[in-house]
Amino acid sequence: MLNINNLSVENADSQIKILDDITLNIDFGEVVYISGSNGSGKSTLLSTLMGDPQFKIISGVIDFKGNDIADESPTNRSLSGIFLATQHPVELPGVSMKQYLRLIYNLHHKEKLPVFKFREVLKNVAEKIDYPKELLDRNVNEGFSGGEKKKTEILQMLLLEPKVVMLDEIDSGLDTKSRKSIFEALKIYKNENKKTIWLIVSHYDEIKEYLKPTKEFEMVKGALH
Ligand SMILES: Nc1ncnc2c1ncn2[C@@H]1O[C@H](COP(=O)(O)OP(=O)(O)OP(=O)(O)O)[C@@H](O)[C@H]1O
Ligand SMILES: [Mg+2]
Repeated sequence: MLNINNLSVENADSQIKILDDITLNIDFGEVVYISGSNGSGKSTLLSTLMGDPQFKIISGVIDFKGNDIADESPTNRSLSGIFLATQHPVELPGVSMKQYLRLIYNLHHKEKLPVFKFREVLKNVAEKIDYPKELLDRNVNEGFSGGEKKKTEILQMLLLEPKVVMLDEIDSGLDTKSRKSIFEALKIYKNENKKTIWLIVSHYDEIKEYLKPTKEFEMVKGALH
C-alpha cells in the first residue's frame, strides 16, 4: 500500500508552497488518475514521491508498505520498486544506452545478466513497444526527439518491472501509432502484474480506456479534489 497523508510541499529554493495537504491512500492493484491545469502541482506530487530534492516536505507522511519513505534517497525508492516516467526526461551525454540499461536492470534484479543474455531481454522488451532499435546504439536521451524520450522512459519501466508505476504525461508528444503500442504494452503489464500501483498524470482521456482508473482526481492549486 502507498499512503500519502497530509502532505505539504514547498520548492526547496524559493520556499513557495506547491502542494497543500494532500491525502491519498492507494491499495495494491489500484489505478489513480490525476488531471488538472498547467502548474497545479501534478508533476510536483510525483517528483516528491520519487524523492526529488527540489521539493521539500513541510509536513506529512509518505508510507510505502508500512515504511515512512520521506527521508529515503531516490535510489532507495527506485530499488524498493517505485518508478517515475518523468514529464521531461534528462539527457545523459556520454552514457551509452546499452550499458546504462544493463546497469539499471542488474541493480533491480537478483540475477545479474551478462551482456549476451541482457541483449535478449532488451530485444524482447523493445519489441513490445516497437522501440526504435537504432536508439540503443546512442547515448541516453542525447538528441532524442520528444517522443523518443517518452518511449525510452517506458522501455526502462518495462525492464525494471516496478511495483509502483508513476506516469507523468507519458502520452504527450507520442504519435498515434506509438501511443497505441505503448498503451497496449502497459495494459499487458497491468494484467500480468495485478498488484501494481499506478499513478497516472495526463491531460487526455485515451489512456484511461487501457488502464481503467479505480480513482480519479483533479489537482487544483496544489490540492486534490
Ligand atoms: N524548481 C521550481 N522552482 C520554482 N517553482 C517551481 C519549481 N518546480 C515547480 N514549480 C512551480 O510549482 C507549480 C507546480 O508545477 P508542476 O510542474 O507540479 O505543475 P503541473 O501540474 O505538473 O503542470 P503541467 O500540466 O504544466 O505539467 C508551478 O507553478 C511551477 O512553476
Ligand atoms: Mg507536469
